[in-house]
Amino acid sequence: MARFNIVTGLATSLIVASAAADSWPKRGLAANDDIPIWQFGGSWNGYSSEVNWQYNWDSTTSQKQSFAEYVPMLWGTSSDHTTQWFDNAWYWLDNGGSGHLLAFNEPEQSSQSNLTPQQAADAWRTYMEPFVGHAQLGAPAVSNDGYEWLSEFLQACSDCNIDFVPIHWYNDHTLESDLENWVNSICSLSGRQVWLTEFQAYGTVDDQSNFLRSAIPFLDDNDCVYRYAYFGTADNSEVLLENGGPSLSPLGVQYTFSAYGSGDGPN
Ligand code: BGC
Repeated sequence: MARFNIVTGLATSLIVASAAADSWPKRGLAANDDIPIWQFGGSWNGYSSEVNWQYNWDSTTSQKQSFAEYVPMLWGTSSDHTTQWFDNAWYWLDNGGSGHLLAFNEPEQSSQSNLTPQQAADAWRTYMEPFVGHAQLGAPAVSNDGYEWLSEFLQACSDCNIDFVPIHWYNDHTLESDLENWVNSICSLSGRQVWLTEFQAYGTVDDQSNFLRSAIPFLDDNDCVYRYAYFGTADNSEVLLENGGPSLSPLGVQYTFSAYGSGDGPN
């Protein structure tokens, strides 16, 4: 038995090694600066954290974690965001270990950055294009009603050096297949890698846990998906934290410490 397994064991480890070469950690945190996120690193029962990036809808942070890349965002085009944008973005690229930039949050929503595709394309050229060659650059991040908006933006900005396309998704916990269709449709539309920078299933904590058991394997195994962040470390959703933190909730432990390609938690 042992001698026989030398051969199959070798074959198995070669397969695992080649699968690992095609995979990379994708999990991140969408966290406002007042939310304690330092317990999302490290390990749990021998399982290492899969969280390796963070953003805060802003262009600088006082909560940079050693285990995560901080990704600056230009939330919108009003002067309270644009005035410090270049200083902050260059600081994080030159000194903070950042390699990516995000632009304009939910531009198709009047309550969010509220831009037409043409306005966003003009602003993208002004505020993002100067970083070409210094960082990977994201398109504006639409929510899951933003297909038409994004399609028009990509046409209006067809000469722009956009590297990846961030999107959001919110829907009922029973509709995990809708998440898959949404992500796949943006991969096809844009021909670029997709970041899911906000997503959450509506339902109880148990419902959300079951949803993540399907969503995480889909996202980890999809080569078009570069990164994702569950909406659970923000001012209006702290579902990944126990009573506001800093300890993680069981859902937070599941999100953070499920092995790559599994949503089943560290067990
Ligand atoms: C908003 C941000 C806010 C975050 C967390 C986002 O949708 O655009 O301004 O900080 O939600 O509440």
